[in-house]
Amino acid sequence: MDEGKCKEASSKYHMIGGHGPNSYSLNSEYQKQLLVSAEDLIKELTHEHLNIDENPSLITHNNTFRIADFGCSIGPNTFFAVENIISAIENKSNQNNSDIPEFQVFFNDLIDNDCNTLFRNIPKSRQYFVAAVPGSFYGQLFPKATLHFAHCSTALHWLSKIPKKVTETSSISWNKGRIHYSGAANEVKKAYSDQYEEDMDVFLSARGKELVNGGLMVLVVLCFPDGVLSSDSSIGVAFDIFGSCLKDMVKIGKISEEKMDSFNLPFYYPWPSEMKALIEANGLFHIEKIAKLASPMRSKPDAQVLTYHLRAVIGGLIEQHFGNGVVEELFTNHLEKLSRSPILVDDKYWKETNYFIYLKRKDG
Ligand SMILES: C[S@@+](CC[C@H](N)C(=O)[O-])C[C@H]1O[C@@H](n2cnc3c(N)ncnc32)[C@H](O)[C@@H]1O
Repeated sequence: MDEGKCKEASSKYHMIGGHGPNSYSLNSEYQKQLLVSAEDLIKELTHEHLNIDENPSLITHNNTFRIADFGCSIGPNTFFAVENIISAIENKSNQNNSDIPEFQVFFNDLIDNDCNTLFRNIPKSRQYFVAAVPGSFYGQLFPKATLHFAHCSTALHWLSKIPKKVTETSSISWNKGRIHYSGAANEVKKAYSDQYEEDMDVFLSARGKELVNGGLMVLVVLCFPDGVLSSDSSIGVAFDIFGSCLKDMVKIGKISEEKMDSFNLPFYYPWPSEMKALIEANGLFHIEKIAKLASPMRSKPDAQVLTYHLRAVIGGLIEQHFGNGVVEELFTNHLEKLSRSPILVDDKYWKETNYFIYLKRKDG
């Protein structure tokens, strides 16, 4: 294993576990709808690009096909995703008159992910073997050339860490008074994009090692269309509103200014052209397809749903940094401010799109 390239992402980065009202499992319909939009593309492209006959290493001698879902969270979306991949492989095997392989599915997430809930959610009727692989996907997690299909949806915008410069008071990239690069100085955005560039290269290199030649990878990523700024998107505005709720708490002395200034969200949303350039610069994969996916919440944004969704994703980070004494009040204030925000009524904020990327491991 290339230790130099293995980076452990902060264990703080995990979704709200369990099945409670704030849990990820009850507040991830947005992510689920992206997987639904990707379903047919995965079937079509797998039919086209899984070359079992030309490349026998795609199926091992004992006919096991290995799939890994990176950043799987706690379900149920991950099961939907892997079952769709399995059905695509079965279709292809049937059409080729080849034996249907046995499937082994690896569920990966960070060590603090609520794996108990994940395991309890595993469908009883599943037709595959399961294993869990804890650890950061910003590092090699499997032996060389042992995976056939890698999948990662709505997880790659999580950076491995907050770029150091944005929390250094002496740096021109210090992100004082904000919690994200959205609306911040260019230097702040640059620090985030540099971190993303580094992380993506590590991610692609690790998957490049783990996948067999001709192995396939699907990435569902949150991107803004080329040229669109984070501050002009509903995501950026929602983060600004959350930042203003934190500032309100500073004003009334519930949290210190220093505490607020040292908090930043570890998310980066690339442009599709940036993603393409990063994949090409890494050089290990053929890009078979990059396509836009429909934005699931576009038609009926609802402040309560958006706030639940935000809480399921960042609630853990907030609690770790500020303590759980302020979490309830913060999200209540966020809901109240979001309900009055133009993003609920103005189409111009709903430009963010989600992208589907289908890659094939080059030989070598
Ligand atoms: C928004 S959830 C998406 C979950 C699932 N893929 C889906 O489509 O519903 C993002 C997941 O990525 C995981 N994640 C973030 N950074 C990670 C990393 N470096 N390594 C592994 N998992 C990571 C988080 O813990 C979280 O469970």
